[in-house]
Amino acid sequence: MGKIKTAYFCQNCGAQSPKWIGKCPSCQEWNTYVEEVIEQPKDKQHGYKKSSGSGSAKPKKLSEISTKEAPRTHTGITELDRVLGGGVVAGSVMLIGGEPGIGKSTLMLQLALKAKDKRVLYVSGEESDVQLRMRAERIELNSSQCIIYTETDTGNIFHHINEINPDIVIVDSVQTMISQAVESTAGSVSQIRQSASEFIRYAKETGTPVFLVGHITKEGSLAGPKVLEHMVDTVLVFEGDSNYIYRILRAAKNRYGSTSELGIFQMQAKGLFEVSNPSELLMSHYDNSLSGIAVSATIEGIRPLMIETQALVSSAVYGTPQRSSTGFDIRRLNMLLAVLEKRCGFRIGAKDVFLNIAGGIKVNDPAIDLGVMCSIISSGEDKPVKPNVCFASEIGLSGELRPVTRIEQRIAEAEKLGFNEIYVSKYNIKNLQINPEKIRVVASNKIEEVFKRLF
Ligand code: TYD
Ligand code: MG
Repeated sequence: MGKIKTAYFCQNCGAQSPKWIGKCPSCQEWNTYVEEVIEQPKDKQHGYKKSSGSGSAKPKKLSEISTKEAPRTHTGITELDRVLGGGVVAGSVMLIGGEPGIGKSTLMLQLALKAKDKRVLYVSGEESDVQLRMRAERIELNSSQCIIYTETDTGNIFHHINEINPDIVIVDSVQTMISQAVESTAGSVSQIRQSASEFIRYAKETGTPVFLVGHITKEGSLAGPKVLEHMVDTVLVFEGDSNYIYRILRAAKNRYGSTSELGIFQMQAKGLFEVSNPSELLMSHYDNSLSGIAVSATIEGIRPLMIETQALVSSAVYGTPQRSSTGFDIRRLNMLLAVLEKRCGFRIGAKDVFLNIAGGIKVNDPAIDLGVMCSIISSGEDKPVKPNVCFASEIGLSGELRPVTRIEQRIAEAEKLGFNEIYVSKYNIKNLQINPEKIRVVASNKIEEVFKRLF
């Protein structure tokens, strides 16, 4: 018997070291190194093995490669297909990350049951078969082609996979899988890496798409080694506030499509429902006489979304004013407040400012800036924004309105939803491709001009 080799791995980022160290030189975390077995004697190695000989791929010219080799399968969940770039590519490995309770298992089970003509193998290392059956009953779906297998040992899984010959494999979750090839416990860096690489090898050799469910740490990154994200083809992040019903599926990495796509779901009593008209849902159909509310035309992925921002400005009770925001970058908020103070002369420095994006959605699109500012001023002055008005512009440090991308789409969406005025930057309308009839496009250079018109 050969000698067992061990090394120390950072449980946060996966860095390897021959000896224990207190602070990880790679991710700067303290006390994260754990000893793990890295190599077993040859005779004990397990994992996926293909029966035929190795080296089936040969070097070939780029022009000789046909892209027809990657046909896409539709999963039966339109929003998921959209995020993946139009469906699942054969042999691709997709990692789905998200906080506990966000709905990863529900999404995967729905996929397994909705892909009716596909044989789907759902490997569960977290829930029992009874629990899965109960969940399937709850979401009121059934499929004769869905096979549930509660197992964590990858050796056993691959043994059965060869018999079942599934069209799609789901592994829930990769952190619970154990490969006999390494001797550390489930969830450790080398164990995750080993089991993931076995599934990846299986996917590549058989052309079967594999979904791996992954946990997320408190800091919001995928638990386990960073290398896991490099190994897979697609990283999807399922996010949302578990207190709200909305769930957003984003691609953080996608070798087969764009990462700007977005899928929106609603978690209801009977499972996840796709939201195809998000703009209508995200606005809270408020009373027009309320102050502190403004609507922005944003773009998430390639989809225009009308998003409502709500602000509350009040005199600070304590010495230091509070600034808090949900769904919007706090540093960006501070910057916008500084612009309001310096460029527009609003005395906001001594006020508490609270900002909220309706629906628990996180927005990264800078085009929401103008809407955010208008909601803050509206609350500060206690004057409601005129009804049926919306905004789409980034704000620069000197209070200038900056152009945003895809203005035509934003205007069209606002028009569709019955808005009759949209405030944009002057630079945006120079070569505007469309000529909207029902909506007036108000172009300005400076934030003051917008405020003068509005309040
Ligand atoms: P789950 O898929 O188990 O989350 P994850 O696998 O990401 O940890 O989701 C569980 C949550 O979703 C749980 O809090 C209950 C809720 N839920 C519903 O609201 N409706 C449903 O139909 C189902 C199945 C779950
Ligand atoms: Mg789960």
